[in-house]
Amino acid sequence: MKLLLLCLGLILVCAQQKENSDVALRNFDIPKISGEWYSILLASNAKEKIGENGSMRVFVNIIRVLDNSSLYAEYQTKVNGECTEFSLVFDETEEDGVYSVNYDGYNVFRISEFGSSDVIFLQQVNLNEDRPFQLLELYAREPDVSPELKKEFVKTAQKEGIFKKNVIDLTKTDRCFQLRGNGVGQASS
Ligand SMILES: *[C@@H]1O[C@H](CO)[C@@H](O)[C@H](O)[C@H]1NC(C)=O
Ligand SMILES: *[C@@H]1O[C@H](CO)[C@@H](O)[C@H](O)[C@H]1NC(C)=O
Repeated sequence: MKLLLLCLGLILVCAQQKENSDVALRNFDIPKISGEWYSILLASNAKEKIGENGSMRVFVNIIRVLDNSSLYAEYQTKVNGECTEFSLVFDETEEDGVYSVNYDGYNVFRISEFGSSDVIFLQQVNLNEDRPFQLLELYAREPDVSPELKKEFVKTAQKEGIFKKNVIDLTKTDRCFQLRGNGVGQASS
């Protein structure tokens, strides 16, 4: 079952990759992913997943490449209005730049660079058996990006069939910055 879902996910993620965008979506050089990132924009056809208290409304902090080529990532998120932290491990798939993770269901996603190597674009498919959905995320090395780049993200989302009203600009919300740099498990809450 899992293998079948993975194949389906890869077909979706790969099909999406072919569509043209004004911003060059190139393969990201994964060894360069280590370090700090900020979540900038989120888009989904399942808006409740990225809305307040949604499972996918998460704020990236640190990503590291592990010895076995999996990626370790630390996030902050709000649970019942309180900032909290958690970590995830993304395992490589057979396709370059495509990873899988179990988080609110089984997810497959592709990591691409969005215009420059300081910005990454994640195209994720959640293969939740009841209701699969799509998630697009923009991460940057800085806490914000230019309005032009945000517009390009919205355009890209629209090409993927996600309405503009389903794009959330996290820079205008509380991203739990007070917990950044603490390290998982050391939060003082
Ligand atoms: C890689 O290592 C991490 C950390 O030990 C582990 O959680 C993950 O499952 C490993 N991935 C694979 C594919 O073995
Ligand atoms: C999110 O959770 C908080 C705290 O439990 C609650 O006050 C708020 O109404 C919730 N928001 C939504 C959109 O469900």
